[in-house]
Amino acid sequence: AAPVRVGILGLGTVGCGTVNVLLRNAQEITRRAGRRIEIVQASARDIGKKRACPTSGIALVPDAESVVRNPDIDVIVELIGGLDPARALVLEAIGQGKHVVTANKALIALHGNEIFRAAQERGVMVAFEAAVAGGIPIIKAIREGLTANRIEWLAGIINGTSNFILSEMREKGADFADVLREAQRLGYAEADPTFDVEGVDAAHKLTILAAIAFGIPLKFRDAYVEGISRVTRLDVSYAEELGYRLKLLGIARRTESGVELRVHPTLIPRRRLIANVEGAMNAVLVKGDAVGPTLFYGAGAGSEPTASAVVADLVDVVRTLTTDPTNRVPHLAFQPDALEDLSI
Ligand code: NDP
Ligand code: HSE
Repeated sequence: AAPVRVGILGLGTVGCGTVNVLLRNAQEITRRAGRRIEIVQASARDIGKKRACPTSGIALVPDAESVVRNPDIDVIVELIGGLDPARALVLEAIGQGKHVVTANKALIALHGNEIFRAAQERGVMVAFEAAVAGGIPIIKAIREGLTANRIEWLAGIINGTSNFILSEMREKGADFADVLREAQRLGYAEADPTFDVEGVDAAHKLTILAAIAFGIPLKFRDAYVEGISRVTRLDVSYAEELGYRLKLLGIARRTESGVELRVHPTLIPRRRLIANVEGAMNAVLVKGDAVGPTLFYGAGAGSEPTASAVVADLVDVVRTLTTDPTNRVPHLAFQPDALEDLSI
C-alpha cells in the first residue's frame, strides 16, 4: 500500500523525537501499522536552526499553514504547543479532512470540546495520547483497558518538571531556580515554565484524564490549581522527617455534587509506591470498581518518551484509516450534543 503522508508542525523537542523514533524503528512501525509512515513536510519558525534530528528528505518550511493545506498530506502532527496558532491550525487541518495527532494538553483541555465536535462532524480522528503523562499510554489504558470499569477516582504525578524539581531539592538540596533551568535544558519544561511550577500544566492533563475517565466534558476552569512555586527546601525536608514525601498531585474523584478536580502539593506516606516516583517520571493511580487500584508509571516528559506516544497515535490513525468510521474508538466517551447537559 502507498505510504501514509505526514506533516509535522513544530520540530523542537517532541517533533525531533518523533522523527528520530520513526526513522530508527521504521521497520517495526511499518509492520505494526500495516503501511509505511512518511514525513513529507515539517514546519519550524527558524528553518536555519540546527535540529536534533535528520531533516534530509523532509521539506522544512517556516509556514505551518502551508503544511496543513498541502493536499499531499494525510495526517497533521501538531507539536508547536500553546493555543495560538495551534488551535487555528488544528481546526484548519480538520476542515481539510486531515487526521490530527497532538501532544498539546493546553489546547485539548481548553478547546478540546470544540475540536472533537469539529472532528466528529468531519469524520476525522484527533489523537492526543502524548498530551498526558508523556510516554505512559494512560489515555488508551483508561479509555480501552479499563473500559469495563466505573472509575471511582484517579490521582497522579503528571508534571515531570515539578516532580524533577521536588526530587532534586530533596536529594541534592538543590535550589528551585537552578533545577528549573536544568529541566528547561533537558526539554521537560513548557515554553512558559510557570505552567509547570504553578500547577497549570498538571491541571490541563487532569482535565483530559477526568473527561475520559468520568465521561464529562473538558472543563479546565473548574479545577482547583496550586503549584510548587512556594515550596521551600525546608518544607521538603520537614516532610521527610515526618515520614512523608511532598509531591504535586492531580486528583479527580466523584463526589455527590459531581467530579472534583484539584492539583496541589500533597504529603504522601513514604511507603507508598507513588511517593517514590522521582525525577521527571510520572505515575497515575486509577481506581476502577472492577479492577481495583491500578498504577501506571513511566517517563512523563522528554523527547523520545513523548515521541513514543505520538508515534503510537500515528500508528493508531494509520490502522483506523482502514476502519469503518462508525467503529472507531470515540475521542471522548460522550456525545458532543450532550456537552451542555453535563457538568463537573
Ligand atoms: P519546543 O519548544 O521544543 O518546539 C516547538 C516547535 O514549534 C519548534 O520547532 C518551534 O520552532 C515551533 N514553533 C514555536 N512557536 C511557533 C509558532 N508560533 N508558529 C509556528 N511554529 C512555532 O516544544 P516541545 O517539543 O517541548 O513541545 C511541543 C508540544 O508537546 C507542546 O504542546 C508541549 O506541551 C507538548 N509536550 C511536550 C513534552 C516535553 O517533554 N517537551 C511532553 C509532552 C507534551 P523553532 O524550532 O524554529 O523555534
Ligand atoms: N512540561 C511537561 C512536564 C511536559 O514537565 O510534565 C510533559 O507534558
